[in-house]
Amino acid sequence: MFERRPLIAGNWKMNLSIKDAVALIDGIAAGINDIEGVDVLVAPPFTTIASIRKAIGNSKIFLAAQNMHNEMSGAFTGEVSGRMIQEAGCTHVILGHSERRALFHETSQVIDLKVKAAAVLGLIPIVCIGETLEERESGKTFDVIRQQLDESLMNFIVDQLMLPSTILAYEPVWAIGTGKTATPDQAQEVHGFIRNWIEKTFKTGTANQVRILYGGSVKADNIAELMAKPDIDGALVGGASLKAESFVPIIRF
Ligand code: 13P
Repeated sequence: MFERRPLIAGNWKMNLSIKDAVALIDGIAAGINDIEGVDVLVAPPFTTIASIRKAIGNSKIFLAAQNMHNEMSGAFTGEVSGRMIQEAGCTHVILGHSERRALFHETSQVIDLKVKAAAVLGLIPIVCIGETLEERESGKTFDVIRQQLDESLMNFIVDQLMLPSTILAYEPVWAIGTGKTATPDQAQEVHGFIRNWIEKTFKTGTANQVRILYGGSVKADNIAELMAKPDIDGALVGGASLKAESFVPIIRF
């Protein structure tokens, strides 16, 4: 058996000035310095990454970007490459967040290219998937999740290799920023489905090692019951990660 270390990740989205971001990281670092057994990660906006890297210092907080381009460099005005975020100090990158998919028209095919580029660079991708309310209500949740996995991880499937360090995040779109969390049973049902998909698709052992995070209105008062489920290995937290007072209690679940 492999042990999957819990991971609590904060996605700051398009929030916080450099000053506020640094204050937040200081607050998080102070709030977690006496605990072990849980990995902590933050994904700040690009412009704050270098300052956050410095502020993290020696405390054990992983740093992620919220997106990247799949090419290493070139004429892509307004874009940032994996190599650039790595140079700025990131070890992880969130890919395929539902806001990227819905608002910026990112397809699973593009996300697949980004996942591949991240893997080539040794950046750990946090690949997001999740169904909309309409899809859930019409009984299509598992079809949507399967298709997103098949397409967003196409290169891994072709290579018959999913690096066990890869992180997946199940974020039902209807639960993001709405205050409506999936019930622990609803989340576990999909997490179990995802783990089973990994088990069937990749070599034995991979499914036991890949961490699957839940995201969507995670708060201090619902984290423990989510984490009690066998296939929920952590959380990707949006709103509640923007204040140390709300994020630290989630980490300390
Ligand atoms: P909320 O926690 O604000 O619902 O956001 C979840 C999310 O999108 C994390 O990536």
